[in-house]
Amino acid sequence: MYKSKITGMGMYVPENEITNRDLTALMDTSHEWILERTGIESRRHIKKGDGNTTATMGVKASRIAIERSGIDKNDIELILFATLSPDYYFPGSGVIVQKELDIPTCPAMDIRNQCSGFIYALSTADQFIKTGMYKNILIIGSENHSGGLDMTTRGRGVSVIFGDGAGALVLSRSSSEETGILSTHLHSEGKYAEELSLIGPSTRRWVPEIMAANDAEDTSYYPYMNGQLVFKNAVVRFSEVIMEGLQENQMTPDQIDMLIPHQANLRISQFIQKKFGLTDDQVYNNIMRYGNTTAGSIPIAMTEAWEAGKIKSGDLVVLAAFGSGFTWGSALIRW
Ligand code: UT7
Repeated sequence: MYKSKITGMGMYVPENEITNRDLTALMDTSHEWILERTGIESRRHIKKGDGNTTATMGVKASRIAIERSGIDKNDIELILFATLSPDYYFPGSGVIVQKELDIPTCPAMDIRNQCSGFIYALSTADQFIKTGMYKNILIIGSENHSGGLDMTTRGRGVSVIFGDGAGALVLSRSSSEETGILSTHLHSEGKYAEELSLIGPSTRRWVPEIMAANDAEDTSYYPYMNGQLVFKNAVVRFSEVIMEGLQENQMTPDQIDMLIPHQANLRISQFIQKKFGLTDDQVYNNIMRYGNTTAGSIPIAMTEAWEAGKIKSGDLVVLAAFGSGFTWGSALIRW
C-alpha cells in the first residue's frame, strides 16, 4: 500500500470584513455576547458583485495549493470538493473548479458532510492514494455562507457564527514511509440529521411549493441549529475521535505537536485543549478572524499555521471536526 502526503496548501477569504459591531446594525446582538459565547471578533463575507462564489474561492485557494505542491495542474487525477453551500443545486462545485482550472477529464466529486466535509474528503483521497489508483488529488473545502443567512434578530443564533472562505490542498503519493497521513477516522449519527440543517428548498420542500406559499415567515430556507445540543455532542465526539486516532497509532496525547480543530466555537477548542493537556501553541485557532467557515475551516487553518511556521517537519498534526449530520472525524498526520 502507498502512503499519501500533503504537498501544497492554499487559502482564500474575501476581503470584506464584517465585525461583530457591524452586525449590531442588522440585528439585536452585541460584540460582547458573540465574543464571550463563540470567540469570534470578525468574519469575511462575500460582497455582492465581487465575483466570489463557493467554487471561485475554491479555485483561488487551489491555484496556490497547486503552485506550492510543484505539480502541473494536469497531473491532478481527482478533484474532491467539500461544501454545504455549492454554487448550484447541481452540478457540484468540483466540476466548476475543473472548468476554471482547465483540467480536461479527471473525475470531480462533491462531498456533502458539512463541518466534517474536509476530513471526509481527506480520508477519501487518502484511500484512493493508498490503493495506488491516483497519485495527485486536489481537495477543496469552501463555503459561501453569507448569501444564505438570516441577518435579522430572528436568525442571530446562527448568523453571527458563520463566515465565507476556502482552503485547498494537494494530496500526493509519498515516497517516504515515515511521513504523511497515518490514519483517518470517520463517524456519522443520522438520528440527529435535522438538529443542524437547512431543509428547504429541497426535494422534500420543492421550489414551486415554497414559491406558491410566498410566506415571509418561512425560515426553512435558512440554516437551523439546535446550538446547545450540537455543542454538547461536539465536545464529546471531538474528544472521542481524537483518542480513537491516537489509540489506532499507539500514541498518547502528549505526542501531539499541533491540533487543528474545525473552528466551530473557541470554547469547544479550549475544552479539547484542556482535556488533552495541550498548550496554546499546540492548538491553532483562527475563528476570531473568520468565524466558522464549515468545510473551509480546517484547510484555511492548516494553511495559516503552516505559513506561520507553526507546523514543522516531523510534527504529529491532528485534525478533528464535528458538525451537521451529525458527522465527525479525525486525521493524524506525520508532517
Ligand atoms: O460547526 C458546526 C458545529 N457547530 C457548533 O459546534 C456550534 C455549537 N453551539 C454553539 O456554539 C452555541 O450553542 C452558540 C454559540 C450557537 C449559542 O451559544 P449558547 O451559549 O448555547 O446560547 P443559547 O443558544 O443558549 O442562547 C442564550 C441566549 C438566548 O436568550 P435567552 O433565551 O436566554 O433570553 C438567545 O436568544 O442568548 C440569546 N442569543 C443571542 N443574544 C445576542 C442567541 N444568539 C444571540 C446573539 N446575540 N447573536
